[in-house]
Amino acid sequence: MTDTPAAPASVDRTTEPWWRSAVFYQVYPRSFADSDSDGVGDLGGVRERLGYLELLGIDALWICPVMRSPMADGGYDVADPRDIDPLFGGIAAMDELIAEAHDRHIKVTMDLVPNHTSSRHPWFVAALAAAPGSRDRDRYIFRAGRGPSGAQPPNNWPSIFGGPAWTRVTEADGTPGEWYLHIFAAEQPDLNWENPEVAADFEQTLRFWLDRGVDGFRLDVAHGMAKPDGLPDMARVQTTMLVNDDSDPRFNNPEVHEIHRRIRKVLDEYPNAVSIGEVWVDDNIRFGEYVRADELHLAFNFRLAQAAFTAATVRAAIDNSLAAVAPVGASPTWTLSNHDIAREVTRYGGGLDGVARARAMFMVELALPGAVFIYNGSELGLPNVDDLPEEVLRDPVWERSGHTERGRDGCRVPLPWEGATPPFGFTAAATSWLPMPPEWAGLTVESQLEELGSTLSLYRMAIQLRGVRPEFAGPRIEWYGSPAGCLAFRRPGGLVCVLNTSAVPISLPPGEVSLASARPENGQLPANAAAWLI
Ligand code: NOJ
Repeated sequence: MTDTPAAPASVDRTTEPWWRSAVFYQVYPRSFADSDSDGVGDLGGVRERLGYLELLGIDALWICPVMRSPMADGGYDVADPRDIDPLFGGIAAMDELIAEAHDRHIKVTMDLVPNHTSSRHPWFVAALAAAPGSRDRDRYIFRAGRGPSGAQPPNNWPSIFGGPAWTRVTEADGTPGEWYLHIFAAEQPDLNWENPEVAADFEQTLRFWLDRGVDGFRLDVAHGMAKPDGLPDMARVQTTMLVNDDSDPRFNNPEVHEIHRRIRKVLDEYPNAVSIGEVWVDDNIRFGEYVRADELHLAFNFRLAQAAFTAATVRAAIDNSLAAVAPVGASPTWTLSNHDIAREVTRYGGGLDGVARARAMFMVELALPGAVFIYNGSELGLPNVDDLPEEVLRDPVWERSGHTERGRDGCRVPLPWEGATPPFGFTAAATSWLPMPPEWAGLTVESQLEELGSTLSLYRMAIQLRGVRPEFAGPRIEWYGSPAGCLAFRRPGGLVCVLNTSAVPISLPPGEVSLASARPENGQLPANAAAWLI
């Protein structure tokens, strides 16, 4: 039996801050539920389905960006951070959602985007109209180009979405002018966080939403914001979002921590508020720096989402994620998917095996100490939709890659609620913003809700057990010896979790099976399954 490093505090829901062990549910608002029949999901749709979320048993919502936006990147291009886009119902819809969610004891966290704005943000519009070297340009990162006429970008950085990370502007007199930096799409210019106005405005945004009752924020690209002096070339040019390269000069520059300390000071004025950073940093020490006591409360760790379905890989991902936060006493976080990653059912091989493995992995992540993030639709066992017609693709990756990468729309297809044909109650319009596969008739909420063996029922039972049983207590896990292709760990409270990634059934250790992702037979756990023993 081997012990993992312990986070110093145990998960005691009576004394610990709520977010240390919360189950968060990520809503991709365009795709969750549509209340105004335009084919696009909105906040009214989330409010109408709060009963469902209560039944699911989640503690908190993470709502992807809903602020005013031209939607060049699904709302991650924000034109006004202190207003809600009419597409999602305007600010009244947000106020109503917060109030009703709180009535049901569900917390609400919003997604804020500190690294960049929309190119239609008034600041950027002013920057384009202003002269090089002006105060208006200084809120962004404008530079002269390289080469005799400045026709080459200032450095070799690529955009994460493909193509160069720089776009050249035309100056007021009609001549080709400076270049501006955009690590993502050209419609998402990077802010210059060295300009004090940028930090001050972000603090105003934090307070604006906290004062309206929001319980915290997911911070987009929380390892971005600070750029290295002189913006040096990248040694090895690569664009992929899911590959961490800790030597990438675009991210994880040490000055970013001062920015997080400023943000944390504001959050500390609101004692129950949480900040959760999107931090793609591989090195555990550097990752842990983001969740020091005066920085972010939580940071997403993507190792489990990147792990293949083998016991050894899963165990390494768990060990690694625990080790990353243990030295600073932060709570670990677990996620299998989100709006940027192919859905887990598909990643684990698709079909019945993919669903079985996704169910098993959900039980593994829920058995671990820390906070869990569920991406909407995972609870229905939805697969990625990889055959969307090209003409419906919206992800900027599709255009920017010159139609070589289809992008992330396949994991953003709307949720099927009820009925036998698309759009499955998602909208009263004839079609949804991304088409839904007719095969999802068997995956609707309606078809799974009362079905004991459904993925939705498994999620509900697992979340409920985790919330009430003392066996889930304790900040660490102990690994048990287990057959090849399997893993088993125990929480100090007494829970034992077993995962079988091998191709054959395995004997379960002694104890009572309180929940299993596939029915054990004769004391044996089938392949592609997990069980909890208490
Ligand atoms: C990370 C978000 O999760 C992703 O969806 C977005 O495209 C980029 N940040 C840029 O904001």
